[in-house]
Amino acid sequence: MTLKTVIVGLGRIGMGYDLALDPARHVLSHARAFSLHPRFSLQAGVDSSAVRRDTFSLHYGCPAYADLGAALAVHHPELVVIAVPTPQHCACLQQILALSRPTPQAILCEKPLAYDLHDAKKMLTLCATKGVALYVNYMRRSDAGVIEIERRLSSAEIGGPLKGVCWYSKGFQHNGSHLFNLLQYWLGPMMEFGVIDPGRPWSTEQAEAAAEAEPDVRVSFRHGEIVFLAAREEAFSHSTIELLASNGRLRYEQGGKLIEWQAACRDRLLPAYTTLAVEPEIIPNGLERYQWHVAEQLASALDDEAGNASAYAALSGQAEKAPEAGAGNRPPALCSGADALATLLSMHAILERCAAGAGRTAAGKESRR
Ligand SMILES: NC(=O)c1ccc[n+]([C@@H]2O[C@H](COP(=O)([O-])OP(=O)(O)OC[C@H]3O[C@@H](n4cnc5c(N)ncnc54)[C@H](O)[C@@H]3O)[C@@H](O)[C@H]2O)c1
Repeated sequence: MTLKTVIVGLGRIGMGYDLALDPARHVLSHARAFSLHPRFSLQAGVDSSAVRRDTFSLHYGCPAYADLGAALAVHHPELVVIAVPTPQHCACLQQILALSRPTPQAILCEKPLAYDLHDAKKMLTLCATKGVALYVNYMRRSDAGVIEIERRLSSAEIGGPLKGVCWYSKGFQHNGSHLFNLLQYWLGPMMEFGVIDPGRPWSTEQAEAAAEAEPDVRVSFRHGEIVFLAAREEAFSHSTIELLASNGRLRYEQGGKLIEWQAACRDRLLPAYTTLAVEPEIIPNGLERYQWHVAEQLASALDDEAGNASAYAALSGQAEKAPEAGAGNRPPALCSGADALATLLSMHAILERCAAGAGRTAAGKESRR
């Protein structure tokens, strides 16, 4: 039996990213992923824009509605995808829970859950109360390359201590949160942090009222130390992680489109020295079809008879990676509501300290940017 799916928000991630791309190679939107994946059946879309509704119906042969109430009066989805702008996520989720008969089995919400922590917590609580599994579309976590790195880290194939640098651009929350959430998956929860520089404000299209900082910050995750550095989006987009281990170097490049491992080895000319292998091992990734992989993982999480994934997602208090997670006992890669909330809580704590630090900077000296 397929899982009936409704998508709310038919913008870039909802439908637009891959409209002009070859479906055999690229699956970058919810509409394409849930229309192609055999475990789901795309029933309808919802968008306030008539143009987007028409495009959706034309492209996917499904009805599109101007408001959620009209859609849920006709359709009874097991899965609802929230892909409206972030400030509307919480209201949209509340509407889904209030109007669906029966309530859906799961909601896949776009990242971040909300800009407001109170809203994000409310979303988790409401889903837990109604028994709805909540997942958040930090899609890199469903990628085979990322999961392989997590396996190597958990099994100590990539050995500690771990220390790294993460470059991000276009806002700490907006883009940096993808890498922060990923590092949380690899290295466990944030234990403490120190702000190096509070950075400049960055205005995103969706959060113009709440321009966010782009700090340089040192973060101690449970299993490693990372320095986040803000790159300048106006020069070029930059999302990378370089992780130094006791036995080599991992490079997560171009936002994950290239993943390389260089093992430590004896220098060929000077055997007293240990250097990095000249030829890196390429760890394959599936980022060209990232939304397909999310659908794939979602299907298995929802099919999981033992309910492990759903239970994990529904535990609103469980905001960190299981400490003893070993090779056979790892948390689901798919990002749960609780994992996404942990990302938000950590990043908000950093941004609050940045705001206080920026005040001091303005009073004392000019920021270096
Ligand atoms: N996971 C990712 O990599 C990723 C990438 C892009 C965007 N996002 C997130 O996805 C969300 C949407 O971003 P986007 O870039 O696709 O935005 P967008 O502006 O391109 O699309 C949003 C769509 O929602 C529609 N909409 C707005 N209010 C609505 C309402 N009340 N009811 C129905 N439709 C409504 C708009 O008409 C628009 O078509 C944001 O939360 C964003 O942060 C995530």
